[in-house]
Amino acid sequence: MRDEFMRALQFRHACKLFDEKRALARADLDYVLEAGRLSPSSLGLEPWRFIVVEDRALRRHLRSACWNQSQITTAGAVIVILALKADLKPESGYARRMLRRLVATDGELEEAMQIYHGITHGDLVAWSVAQCHIAAADMMLAAASIGLDSCPMGGFEPEAVAEVLGIDRARFEVALLLALGYRAQPQPPRHRLPLAELVEYR
Ligand SMILES: Cc1cc2nc3c(=O)[nH]c(=O)nc-3n(C[C@H](O)[C@H](O)[C@H](O)COP(=O)(O)O)c2cc1C
Repeated sequence: MRDEFMRALQFRHACKLFDEKRALARADLDYVLEAGRLSPSSLGLEPWRFIVVEDRALRRHLRSACWNQSQITTAGAVIVILALKADLKPESGYARRMLRRLVATDGELEEAMQIYHGITHGDLVAWSVAQCHIAAADMMLAAASIGLDSCPMGGFEPEAVAEVLGIDRARFEVALLLALGYRAQPQPPRHRLPLAELVEYR
């Protein structure tokens, strides 16, 4: 398992050009989405929603909202990861529903909701988006583990993406796009700082 995981890590790279001729099997797409579903989230709120864009004509429109990046149209599919916004407000009822799963009694739920009120004074959108990035990482590694390439894409205009897909920006923030498909070019060399520069033991 250790070797297999490392192989997936080494296989994954930000694929810049996909082989347009290779279609994506629905079972593979589902495998990747399942990894996103199983991702960890703060308080188990699962503050993500996924729009799978397969339609080619729609992806042509989407590409213009994503700095014209070719991955959008050469990929087999693009997963648009949406971060919950309005639902995360304590009064929305969503948090209550999600927290209810973690506690045994109504009293515990009220305590949890009080804590929730306290922690939601900060930047809810940044909090939500950060968790979407965790789901994205899990999905990329799941994809790599079945030989599927990916590219995480933060290069987009959120308003334009929302308009192309009819997303209500009061409810959702576009967190990240994840292009999936099969590489059309060899994997480039990887550049990473050595662990010695990144890690400090105390
Ligand atoms: C949040 C995020 C946003 C990114 N946005 C883009 C993007 O818009 N277009 C792109 O080609 N690569 C994008 N990348 C890929 C990075 O450029 C890439 O991961 C980095 O250069 C390291 O290369 P590697 O992933 O191939 O190892 C993004 C990566 C992350 C994590």
